[in-house]
Amino acid sequence: MAASAAAAPGIFDPFEVKGVVFRSRVLRSSLGGRMAYYDGTVTPAWRNFERRFARPEHLLGGIISATIAIDDARHSPLEYPKLSDDRFIGPIAEGVRAVKDLGCAYIVQIGDPGGHTHTSLLPEAADGLSASAGFDFVYGYRNRTTAMTPGEIARTVGQFASAARRVRATGADGVEVTASKGYLIHQFLNPATNRRRDDYGGSPKKRFRLLEEVVREVRREIGDDYLFGVRLSAEDFNYLPLNVRWPPVLPLRDWFFGNTLATTLDYGRWLAALGVDYLHIDSGFGFVNPKGSPGEFPFEGLRLFANSARHLSAKARVRATVLNLVPAWLAGSTLGLGWRFVPAANAGYAASFREATKLPVIANGGFQERSVIAGALAHGQCDLVAIGRPLLANPDLLQAIAEQRPPASGQPCTFCSRCCTRTAVLPLGCYDVSRFGHSNARMQQQILETSADLSP
Ligand SMILES: Cc1cc2nc3c(=O)[nH]c(=O)nc-3n(C[C@H](O)[C@H](O)[C@H](O)COP(=O)(O)O)c2cc1C
Ligand code: SF4
Repeated sequence: MAASAAAAPGIFDPFEVKGVVFRSRVLRSSLGGRMAYYDGTVTPAWRNFERRFARPEHLLGGIISATIAIDDARHSPLEYPKLSDDRFIGPIAEGVRAVKDLGCAYIVQIGDPGGHTHTSLLPEAADGLSASAGFDFVYGYRNRTTAMTPGEIARTVGQFASAARRVRATGADGVEVTASKGYLIHQFLNPATNRRRDDYGGSPKKRFRLLEEVVREVRREIGDDYLFGVRLSAEDFNYLPLNVRWPPVLPLRDWFFGNTLATTLDYGRWLAALGVDYLHIDSGFGFVNPKGSPGEFPFEGLRLFANSARHLSAKARVRATVLNLVPAWLAGSTLGLGWRFVPAANAGYAASFREATKLPVIANGGFQERSVIAGALAHGQCDLVAIGRPLLANPDLLQAIAEQRPPASGQPCTFCSRCCTRTAVLPLGCYDVSRFGHSNARMQQQILETSADLSP
């Protein structure tokens, strides 16, 4: 691993890791929307969306893709892309080429939502597979999750490895495995959702075993010379008692809080020992959650999301009904607890991982202001910063920072998180109408342009 970092790097300094050069220290974080056909093949809208951020004048160092599914059944949400078969390589390769032609590095993130699969055309038993059997009111649509058999685990490990091979075949600069967001690997890591008594559950080392096998097999498939990172949650928090997750586990602190930093730092050290090239650090468990997407509570969006899945199970129907009945003011003051904006929310965690593992670290969540981005880099908390919502709101954010002017829209991202939840049913874009002078027409225009071909 060859990482170069100046003593006090600035936002616009390049960064190199494993031969991949990022032209600045800011990456576009994973942003997914309905940009694939129902079979999982990316649409031209996906390519146009990614190219928009890659434009040289936007100065971004690189782009990390949305979570691309490794399993044919579980893609999440519906109309996110898949890499579960060789036939998906070609269309993604075309988009990757378009991004790289603009001088921007591109990393493909792969993952499996497991029991947190949000949406589906029709109910599928495979969408409930997880570490253990149980009930989770907020995440996933199946009534209950089902514990994976050792055979199913082995199949999943193989699917990660095959998908990683396909990532390399697309021409992307690197592959990132998500062990965060409450997705399948995270369900194995989290002691509240992993109650297994076999070699994949119990102690942290055993809960880590699925991730370890995935890392070993992915590395075997892609070779030692290919950039390989892992997205990891620094603390789970688990969002109890607001989420109902059953049965409880002992000790109760595991049920309430899941992994804490002491344990996840061990995961980080083990990943470093396994030869992972970088870590991408966020926090929280589940998408969306208040730690991973710091900001306002997106109640209306959650309602929309829940209603879009209500046909899939009894749980999903009850969940939608409850959210339809609760008045917004009551939901805001109860379900919205813990939702608040924290600048550079995970930079402190990133610093701990950087110190403990000596690996290059990407910090994710709550970056928009120049001083906040520059501060995290200058203080050595991270090597790179990944930005999601503020770049969705203003793709020219970094250029505006460089030119010391407001972005072209004149309005910063408000971290209202409406975009996170509306992506399940609506095209990707910014849904805070206040940013568009309360003009729905202007907001719709922006949403159309978000994935339009803007090439001259
Ligand atoms: C519309 C939308 C879609 C997202 N999709 C993904 C995804 O596919 N995979 C992922 O790991 N994170 C996803 N995220 C989370 C972002 O990558 C990022 O971690 C989060 O928005 C916090 O960063 P921010 O404060 O810079 O927005 C998504 C976020 C948004 C807003
Ligand atoms: S909807 Fe717009 S303002 Fe709100 S978080 Fe998303 S990008 Fe930012």
